[in-house]
Amino acid sequence: MKVEDYIEKLKPYEGGKPIEELQRELGIEGEIIKLASNENPLGASKKAKEAIKKATGKVYLYPDGNAYYLKKKMAAKLNIDMNNIIFGNGSDELIELIYRTFATNPDDEILYCYPTFIEYKIIGMGFNKKLIELPLNNYAYDIELLLDSINDKTKIIFLNTPNNPTGAAIPKKDINRVIDAVKDKNCLVVIDEAYYEYAIAEDDYEELLDLYKENNVIILRTFSKAYGLAGLRIGYGIAQKDIIDYLNRTRPPFNVNILAQEAAMAAIDDDEHIRESVKNNNEGKEFLYSEFEKLGIEYIKTYANFILFDTKKDANKIYEALLKKGVIVRSMAGYGYTTSLRVTIGTMDENRIFIEKLKEVLDV
Ligand SMILES: Cc1ncc(COP(=O)(O)O)c(C=O)c1O
Repeated sequence: MKVEDYIEKLKPYEGGKPIEELQRELGIEGEIIKLASNENPLGASKKAKEAIKKATGKVYLYPDGNAYYLKKKMAAKLNIDMNNIIFGNGSDELIELIYRTFATNPDDEILYCYPTFIEYKIIGMGFNKKLIELPLNNYAYDIELLLDSINDKTKIIFLNTPNNPTGAAIPKKDINRVIDAVKDKNCLVVIDEAYYEYAIAEDDYEELLDLYKENNVIILRTFSKAYGLAGLRIGYGIAQKDIIDYLNRTRPPFNVNILAQEAAMAAIDDDEHIRESVKNNNEGKEFLYSEFEKLGIEYIKTYANFILFDTKKDANKIYEALLKKGVIVRSMAGYGYTTSLRVTIGTMDENRIFIEKLKEVLDV
């Protein structure tokens, strides 16, 4: 079989290394901690797990393709209309649907700052799109540069706030400037808030939900992070009715499975679990900040559940050395940050183990 050049050039997405893979590869028998994929270290809420158990009897049935009850519940929680919501098999799928639905002209340009969530790039390459990648400014989205780069071909702008992998947030006034700049153009602004629940706990992170009222905006959020349901694959988009309607036309019919729908409904009811998760994250963040400071390691203030830190040493080597000690983080060398790594904030026990092993690896 032959494929087009742009498919030939694609490299599959590389996620954080699964624990089982590390066990297999290095024969490590002791405890392994994974702080590599920004999952919730407290796991899923009890209520969600009970709902999953209860729903197993229904798995021979197709799920509700419209996710009616879940949509109703989410609409009530957000105080918006059901018609303004779409669910996806993870927000990853929604990113793909956005490309498939709106970036259909060969001349379309896709705009974002980089490093950011790498799926904007991988999915865009899979659609053979012209990707305009602008550098970050001091680890944050460079809004001036982004505004200067908008033209009549710009079809999708990805704004990731907080930005994965740096943790920086985009001020609401800057997001508004981007929205204003494309108001009269046929261009969609995607505000990816995968880490919303963590971000909103910070004093200076502003609520962005009302921006869905703009006619060319979609806000993406997910159950994979603070809700602890990454393994079930469920995320959602909030936008004007016509945007949701078009996305529904290209959406596979049963994209969100029964267990994910039931778990998400139960998770929405478990505010306590989100509070606990955010509290754990804040404690872990303060602990890691202070340990990094003691070690003289520079880090970026995060609005999410991960921290980008600079060891001033070869990041890939540090990554490999940590792996051998049973700690999985992410090297940022592939993003051009050759001496930086990203660590997901874990439980306090995991954070302590990580720091202990990091000190051993750095020989301090
Ligand atoms: C910024 C950002 N957007 C989207 C996603 C994808 O999330 P999901 O699991 O809902 O597909 C991630 C996952 O890491 C992310 O970091």
